[in-house]
Amino acid sequence: MKSYKELGLVNSREIFKKAMAGKYAIPAFNFNNLEQLQAIIMACVETKSPVILQVSSGARKYANANLLKNMAKGAVEFAHELGYDIPIVLHLDHGDSFELCQSCIESGFSSVMIDGSHLSYEENIALTKKVVDYAHQFDVTVEGELGVLAGIEDEVSAEHHTYTRPEEVEDFVKRTGVDSLAISIGTSHGAFKFKVKPGEAIPPLRFDILEEVQKRIPGFPIVLHGASSVPQDIVNEINQYGGKIENSAGVPEDQLRKAAESAVCKINIDSDGRLAMTAAVRKVLAENPSEFDPRKYLGPAREKLKELYKHKIVNVLGSANKA
Ligand code: G3H
Ligand code: 13P
Ligand code: ZN
Repeated sequence: MKSYKELGLVNSREIFKKAMAGKYAIPAFNFNNLEQLQAIIMACVETKSPVILQVSSGARKYANANLLKNMAKGAVEFAHELGYDIPIVLHLDHGDSFELCQSCIESGFSSVMIDGSHLSYEENIALTKKVVDYAHQFDVTVEGELGVLAGIEDEVSAEHHTYTRPEEVEDFVKRTGVDSLAISIGTSHGAFKFKVKPGEAIPPLRFDILEEVQKRIPGFPIVLHGASSVPQDIVNEINQYGGKIENSAGVPEDQLRKAAESAVCKINIDSDGRLAMTAAVRKVLAENPSEFDPRKYLGPAREKLKELYKHKIVNVLGSANKA
């Protein structure tokens, strides 16, 4: 058993409390490789933002649990070396079983999500409570989910949204003891969030549901998944350099800004980072076909990623200077 405290990490309790009071959201950026982690830490140190390093079960399999733990430890030391200690959470994204959550907690995660959103209400409560009871023994915080996002949630496929039912949240929070709650208000995972024809407006998020949730559990930290904006300049760059990404659409940043000022304390962004890296790699390789040193294309990808994260922190989430 390796406690996250020995790695220099923190759980999400204090940073969510401050985010709620200060009307901003903490960035939760997914990572599975070195350059993504470097970009996240550099961006957060330069903007003095707290951060949630997020790892999906797929990412954990890809990167190796042992390596990840030591990368998170290294991230704490890297931030210190860059000259500013920021609060860093290591969080399991979309945990789908008690055993996975337990294994992550044992290997140094400071926060886990148990995603029982695809289960029946009572089964979701039972599974979430089991994880909470275990996690809280080690002062690890737990995120639960009510409502289903359209699209793919890791291995969980949801054809359509099932918006969160505000009338359930109070009971769910009380009976499970979760520390934060992910809700479904119209976002979805990936780069194709809305089916809109060119020129058509993207449908707004269901802020009415968010408001109703806030009324029922005042001051409780809410999480927004599927919050990439899918910047069209980045998509255009990918397509300009040989890619083929069509009909992509994301959540407009002004809506995320509005959400960050509410009880939404954590905003999950993965796809935008994937797009930024892909655009940079494609550009370098298209312009320099004889290049074969990975540092020559992953370096620019890391730089573009860092700029993207800084933009999100400063202009969208409002978490700059909150570390
Ligand atoms: O919500 C899902 C995240 O974007 C992680 O995706 O399962 O492909 O690592 P992944
Ligand atoms: P995006 O696909 O919109 O980046 O969402 C990521 C996410 O919710 C990770 O849990
Ligand atoms: Zn998610």
